[in-house]
Amino acid sequence: MKNMETLINHIKTQGFIFQGSEIYGGLANSWDYGPLGSELKHKLKDLWWSYFIRNNHLNVGLDSSILMNTQVWKNSGHLGNFNDPLIDCKKCNSRFRADKLIEDKFPEINAGNMSNPEIEDYIVKNKILCPKCGGLDYTKIRNFELMFKTSQGVINDENSIVYLRPETAQGIFINFKNVQRTTRKKLPFGIGQIGKSFRNEITPGNFIFRTREFEQMELEFFFNPNDGINWFEYWINQVEKFLTEVLGISKNNYFKRAHSKEELAHYSDATTDFEYNFLFGRGELWGVAHRGNFDLSAHQKGSGEDLSYTDSITNEKIVPHVIEPSVGLERLILAILTESYVEEEVENGTRVVLKLPKKIAPYQVAVLPLQKQQNAAAKELFNDLIKEFDVTYDESGNIGKRYRRQDAIGTPICITYDFDSENDESVTVRNRDTMLQERILISKLKDYIKNDLI
Ligand code: GAP
Repeated sequence: MKNMETLINHIKTQGFIFQGSEIYGGLANSWDYGPLGSELKHKLKDLWWSYFIRNNHLNVGLDSSILMNTQVWKNSGHLGNFNDPLIDCKKCNSRFRADKLIEDKFPEINAGNMSNPEIEDYIVKNKILCPKCGGLDYTKIRNFELMFKTSQGVINDENSIVYLRPETAQGIFINFKNVQRTTRKKLPFGIGQIGKSFRNEITPGNFIFRTREFEQMELEFFFNPNDGINWFEYWINQVEKFLTEVLGISKNNYFKRAHSKEELAHYSDATTDFEYNFLFGRGELWGVAHRGNFDLSAHQKGSGEDLSYTDSITNEKIVPHVIEPSVGLERLILAILTESYVEEEVENGTRVVLKLPKKIAPYQVAVLPLQKQQNAAAKELFNDLIKEFDVTYDESGNIGKRYRRQDAIGTPICITYDFDSENDESVTVRNRDTMLQERILISKLKDYIKNDLI
């Protein structure tokens, strides 16, 4: 039965994802990506990069440092604002996020915008009991810094503190001027980057949905708010096209949720989240935020550098506004795996097949010799195909089992080299999704594969 447990079990046993530090008993909430998982990650990043950067004339790419001057976080508002309000139950010593205690009981309330005394007051007045022991005796709220702290250099003092970035976005804002000057880009234009982010989350979980170390794919799109174009809608549409047309995510499995006024971050004019129907419930997948010109203005003020933009024709000088589509790579992978995982009743039992988008399947093709006698010829075919495609080779076990193995890891095409291949110079090609087989001339095989993978 398809549920979170069967999906995780499948992904782990097939070698997509392993528990982090497993031989030492693991490190909570850390995951290592095996040969198949790392291939999937690379391909998905490449697809995002092609769609949003390489093939979009408006945008360019960036790869900024994880470690940045602490002033970045001071002026972005992360130092000070980027923390969770924690509260302890005095009776059973359980610890909770105080705002979540309220929101779990009263989903219509946005406690994220309340001050700590307001949250404490609300909990007492509305008798929000400890979910563990039912008590109503809590400590005062303490704020828990979500950024990972480390120190740079040999002397470990106040001045050596640096933070691991909790988002890649700030690396883009502080390079806005560098990129604009060197590319001579005119508004509107975007800067995108893919990279690791770190958050000391209090409640990580749901497999790779919320982790402390993750990768983000973010685009900061800079524009003049007077240009008359609704860039917010434009980027919402682009994200939706990427999800449905490029990744094949079903429209029934995600929802667009516009944030209410109360829910918006203080700097945001509007935000729409794409929420996905994960197997544990609905969760944020991809956020598209209208950030106004909060970030560039804050860094302009904090650094003293002029981060404004002057229109070369009208001479109008503005601090550009920003639309930010931001997604977590691993979260997108979890959505794709959820979407792709299918248990199908077939003739001799159940087959588990990952109907991954063909462009991101770890292997595009598997070459399978039917019997030992065909191993050498099949290997030769494999060596030829691997020059152009991502190919795997499997000669062990009966052919049915080998098909199942490839189904389980999402390989779209299986090629069987059999007794007749030498004579008719053809192979049997099997389709992952339909399981239909057809005979194809080896001389036509590469064109066939290319057409099939489009
Ligand atoms: N720069 C804006 C930003 O970082 P966010 O809503 O905090 O906004 C953007 O994060 C996206 O990054 C989320 O929609 C989610 O896909 C991903 N993300 C955030 N925190 C994550 C975590 N702890 N683990 C995995 N993915 C996360």
